[in-house]
Amino acid sequence: EDSCRKVAEIIEEVVANKPDALLGLATGSSALGVYDALKADFDAKKVDFSKCRTVNLDEYVGLPQSHDQSYSYFMHKNLFDRTNFDESKIFLIDGEKNGDDEAKRMGDFLAKNYPDMQLLGIGPNGHIGFNEPADVFEMNPHVTDLTKKTIDANARFFASVNDVPQKAITMGIGNIALAKKTVLIAAGDSKAEVLGRLFKDDVIDPQLPCSILKIHPDAIIVADKALAKKAGLL
Ligand code: GLP
Repeated sequence: EDSCRKVAEIIEEVVANKPDALLGLATGSSALGVYDALKADFDAKKVDFSKCRTVNLDEYVGLPQSHDQSYSYFMHKNLFDRTNFDESKIFLIDGEKNGDDEAKRMGDFLAKNYPDMQLLGIGPNGHIGFNEPADVFEMNPHVTDLTKKTIDANARFFASVNDVPQKAITMGIGNIALAKKTVLIAAGDSKAEVLGRLFKDDVIDPQLPCSILKIHPDAIIVADKALAKKAGLL
């Protein structure tokens, strides 16, 4: 909860300094607590999202926006419908449309709009967005095959592992790196190994996608103390 509150306050500072900020948003259980804190502060009239623009990191290919595991659904349920974001300023991928077309639409948008802040979770394999470990860092939005590790990690949200989509559309690592500020929130023991490597390995390695953050001029990593200890950082 403390981690989530910290991240919410960072986002609120971005919005206070720039009411029409473009917020790059993320999904996942770690982001959920951040959105709960943003909603609480919105209710307390500490923040106003009416002028903000948003773009989300990624989306499963094949899930309609009404599917309760689509990231569109997640964003509406956990943030947009609980606060005062303006629907016309929200950029979301439609997982039911052609993946390459949607990736291009997102790429066109990001070519003209750099997020003022990009919120990130991290996968147990070090992925950010759905940029899985790979031989190269992809620059732009693209359709990607999810790894078995990611499918297994996300199976908890579906009736069975067979229901987890095998493909997703994600912002590229390049798009993430071009955000003015990045804030990564990590929670849970499954992130300890990659978090430890992120700090200890002195390389920027596409096999550890989050390692791109090492060269970002304004990258914040937020983790709870138990995880940081497990990662060997405390
Ligand atoms: C999914 C998302 C990632 C997110 C990750 C972490 O894989 N595509 O963008 O970082 O979940 O999720 P959690 O916070 O639930 O561990």
